[in-house]
Amino acid sequence: MEKIQVALLGLGTVGKGVYRTLQKLNKRIEEKLGVSIEVTTILVKHPEKHRNFEGNHLITTDFQHILDNPEIKLVLEAIVGVEPAYSYLAKSIKAKKHVITANKAMFAHHGKELLALAEDYHVQVGFEATTAGGIPIIQTIRKLLHVNQIRQVTAILNGTSNYILTEMREKKIPFKQALYQAQQLGYAELDPTNDIEGFDAFFKLMILSELIFHEQPAWSNVDRIGIKDITLRELLEQQECGKRIKHLASLQLIDEQIRASIIPVSIPATHPLYSIEGVDNGIVLETDLVGRIILAGPGAGAFPTASAMLEDLAIILRSLHQSTITVSQELINSTT
Ligand code: HSE
Repeated sequence: MEKIQVALLGLGTVGKGVYRTLQKLNKRIEEKLGVSIEVTTILVKHPEKHRNFEGNHLITTDFQHILDNPEIKLVLEAIVGVEPAYSYLAKSIKAKKHVITANKAMFAHHGKELLALAEDYHVQVGFEATTAGGIPIIQTIRKLLHVNQIRQVTAILNGTSNYILTEMREKKIPFKQALYQAQQLGYAELDPTNDIEGFDAFFKLMILSELIFHEQPAWSNVDRIGIKDITLRELLEQQECGKRIKHLASLQLIDEQIRASIIPVSIPATHPLYSIEGVDNGIVLETDLVGRIILAGPGAGAFPTASAMLEDLAIILRSLHQSTITVSQELINSTT
């Protein structure tokens, strides 16, 4: 069976989730895709932190080593922050490697450039894992946009914030305790500021804007308020009135202008995102033909994010297989 060598950049919660999922589901992947996926190199910054990691013989600190290895066809990136992630992926694309990323900050900043670069070098970029964890929102939007127009998106895009608000309200615990739990469960970013001040949801919304409207609004025009100042008292007061405070990301086109905001909103039980609780994300797409589509599911955590990255990997491998068949068919046609 053909072996595909892949490199993993980053070994945090998501990186480990991807590595372990590939080990666990190796057989299933072989059966479904007809190829065997092997992680042969893992790039980390601090190898001493990973001494007890079961795959520590694969660890390197030398990115060039990955770049120079022609056997590595795919790079899976789960690093935090814009750099060096962007440079690594741009270089990987130029070395004709396909790339898959879970890095929303990097992709909100440079997704457009990476996609253009990938087109020039005839490789593919997967970014399903950047937005809404395990929910296949990128694929869903791509499928819809063949004919439909998406008029509006209203979403819960940060699992940590939704988890904190749910825990505070249900268990009547203070913000700090709920945040600590989210960190222990691997939902929050390394620096949770991004989660609780709304930056994480902001980057995800910008990625959706780029995908749906082919551009982003001016970042300075986007209202962004996180959840860090919401008190238990406020949550309980709203509950008394039959409402829940949710951290909502909204995107819509008004008079050809993209309007976007990421703010806490008190919503009634009739709102489609009212019952999205815990670490789940929820996305409401308002479209002109099909109408309203609602997606919900785990929005953070090692395995939902690994699922999104590996689905991207499967899509890329399938399309490569498909293009091999097409090229072979064209060769046959041209010689007969
Ligand atoms: N910290 C992120 C969240 C992880 O809580 O949604 C998934 O992107």
